[in-house]
Amino acid sequence: MTAAATDPATPARQIGETLIDVDRLKVHFPILSGIFQRESGRVRAVDDISFEIRKGETLGLVGESGCGKSTTGRAVIRLRNPTAGTVRFDGHDLMDLSRGELRKMRRRMQIIFQDPYSSLNPRMTVGSIISEPLETHDLAAGKARIERVRELLALVGLNPNYTDRYPHEFSGGQRQRIGVARALAVEPEFIVCDEPISALDVSIQAQVLNLLVELREKFGLTYLFIAHDLSVVRHISDRVAVMYLGKLVELGPPSAIYDAPGHPYTRALLSAVPIPDPKAERRRKRVILTGDVPSPANPPDGCRFHPRCWLYERLGRPEQCRTEDPELRTVATDHRAACHFAEEALQSDIGVAHMATDKVRHGTPQSATAGLAAEHAAEASAAAAALDDSGTGSPNEPSAEV
Ligand SMILES: Nc1ncnc2c1ncn2[C@@H]1O[C@H](COP(=O)(O)OP(=O)(O)OP(=O)(O)O)[C@@H](O)[C@H]1O
Ligand code: SF4
Ligand SMILES: [Mg+2]
Repeated sequence: MTAAATDPATPARQIGETLIDVDRLKVHFPILSGIFQRESGRVRAVDDISFEIRKGETLGLVGESGCGKSTTGRAVIRLRNPTAGTVRFDGHDLMDLSRGELRKMRRRMQIIFQDPYSSLNPRMTVGSIISEPLETHDLAAGKARIERVRELLALVGLNPNYTDRYPHEFSGGQRQRIGVARALAVEPEFIVCDEPISALDVSIQAQVLNLLVELREKFGLTYLFIAHDLSVVRHISDRVAVMYLGKLVELGPPSAIYDAPGHPYTRALLSAVPIPDPKAERRRKRVILTGDVPSPANPPDGCRFHPRCWLYERLGRPEQCRTEDPELRTVATDHRAACHFAEEALQSDIGVAHMATDKVRHGTPQSATAGLAAEHAAEASAAAAALDDSGTGSPNEPSAEV
């Protein structure tokens, strides 16, 4: 599937044809047991998902822990082999490539990991860490390589003279900048950002997010940006994909996902996003997700979300939800949802009533930083409001639960 669109907020940034086409991707992990280590089951980490990432766009991918986000990110750049399905990068099926061809292709796609502490080799200097990909791909040698490393350090906001230092001499935010420099060394077109700010102090999350957005603008990069919650990806994503238990349940532009979501799970996730205005916080209708996420080794029949779905309960537990796995289908222009009753979900005001009036410019560094600052202010103000308000209890307790 292809589409051409221009982000209205950033006219210089063009979003073009499909760069990555993921078709019916499955990644299953065998569960081995007994002394002969026989396969006794499978963890269906990613279970038949299809989506595309367009040239120049940032696709946000969100969902609860263990839903398969990282496995998807790794499979998309073939750091993990799929069990079934295809991933095409710029028209090339990644599974069909020879080792040499894959090596060449790897130059075009990179990954930034969540944990800046474990993702850098503690025994290597920063210079060697950033030089490694230059060496692997024969991109620069000798003095030119040293100069390129200095240039990359400066590009990510670090002192170019730090090449002889070791990772432990840097803070978490600085280490993540080193990870970004390493990814940029080979001049990639596409980067999987796997929760690049989750492990960082709140005070520096916005700086790193800002850096990623600035680099995207400067080099026309395409990102798959993975995060736990919807608030982080809101201001930087051109489209957002929501994942639940190995499946994609919704995919669309921020205007759809944040203002008019068509999947009950997305509405439940939005319910957990703090609002800067304590009065609006008390007024809004929220759903609290109850029960644990089922095991991906034994997912529920039918719609995987049905044991936790508020709409299923509200509709009188329709049989279709228990027996038929809903397809990700188009519910509005460029907006897909995997729910048999997406039209009912679209009509609901649960989780989003607070979002509609607050227009933001998606995709700019300013909005990314402002967004994070607003989240933190919202959390602080909701906590303060709860302390002032003797009747309301915990700031997370809903005033209008559904
Ligand atoms: N190498 C592996 N072997 C077996 N199971 C795995 C492996 N990697 C991941 N899994 C399982 O696959 C499922 C999806 O894991 P994944 O790391 O992709 O989730 P995630 O959404 O990235 O979670 P988180 O938000 O915690 O990072 C989990 O149940 C996980 O335990
Ligand atoms: S298909 Fe049924 S159970 Fe699944 S999300 Fe929709 S209403 Fe809920
Ligand atoms: Mg992960």
